[in-house]
Amino acid sequence: MPVDISISKPSTEPLHCGLLERTGVSLNVLRLDKCHPLLSGNKWYKLKYNLLEFQEQAELPILSFGGAYSNHLHALAAAGKLLGMRTIGVVRGEMPEPLNPVLAFAKQQGMTLVSISRSDYRRKQDADFLQELHASFGDFHLLPEGGSNSLAIKGCEEIASLLKWQDSAANRLVALCCGTGTTMAGLLSGLSKVEAGSAPEVLGVSVLRGDGYLQSEISSQLQACGCYDTADWRVDDAYHCGGYARSNPALKSFLSEFATFSDLPLEPVYTGKLFYALFDLIESKVIPSGTEIVAIHSGGIHN
Ligand SMILES: Cc1ncc(COP(=O)(O)O)c(C=O)c1O
Repeated sequence: MPVDISISKPSTEPLHCGLLERTGVSLNVLRLDKCHPLLSGNKWYKLKYNLLEFQEQAELPILSFGGAYSNHLHALAAAGKLLGMRTIGVVRGEMPEPLNPVLAFAKQQGMTLVSISRSDYRRKQDADFLQELHASFGDFHLLPEGGSNSLAIKGCEEIASLLKWQDSAANRLVALCCGTGTTMAGLLSGLSKVEAGSAPEVLGVSVLRGDGYLQSEISSQLQACGCYDTADWRVDDAYHCGGYARSNPALKSFLSEFATFSDLPLEPVYTGKLFYALFDLIESKVIPSGTEIVAIHSGGIHN
């Protein structure tokens, strides 16, 4: 375990509302968002094994990439501070002036922030561009955008063993929202190790535009980690609400309605879209009566 970071075991909490009673679907929420005040949600699981590896050369900074509202840079900055490691956040596009709350927090945790143009940002995996970053910053541990790599998949495998089911007769469905798809690839890989025979179905809700993109992205990630024998799974691309970090009137009205009967914190970029999708799929009976859902609350920043 990385030193000085202690994570509490996430609870599973039932959600109650008229729709669920009427349709005979049960919906429980795995509260990963409550496992740590700063490394909450899927962040801890994605970062954990990367941090362990980086700690072997703790004198080098960790460099990673993200947009101006990146939950990943937010969490990485906090982890760096907790572990006493330097962090560098390479931010896509112009640096907001004054800094927005996410970047102001990252800076306050000690992260060095540098902004690059969107065209340079697209080169973030190219060897020549990384060379330029080394020329500016010297040696560093490189963590890809969103913290998504094979060690992140390894960490997210652990989410599979946190799933709790109430009703042995129900159809089981795990649902989560997807950006890079790494959390879902890790979950599927973890389920293939722990759930012999009775694996639940897994539904990913894409928070970004791109028909079929995440389905093939997750397949490639599973292949790369040697996982071929997975539970039934699919990604639903219909609930991006205009694209990444975009919203629309239907999502906004769902979120205000949701807040009238539940105090579960949802934000519009990630978990809001997950619950919006689930409620719509339940209402339209795509998710049938008799289903027990565990929805993974993957955190997110509430501004
Ligand atoms: C709050 C939250 N939920 C879900 C995701 C999506 O995770 P992934 O990129 O692994 O699909 C992210 C991004 O990491 C996130 O910040």
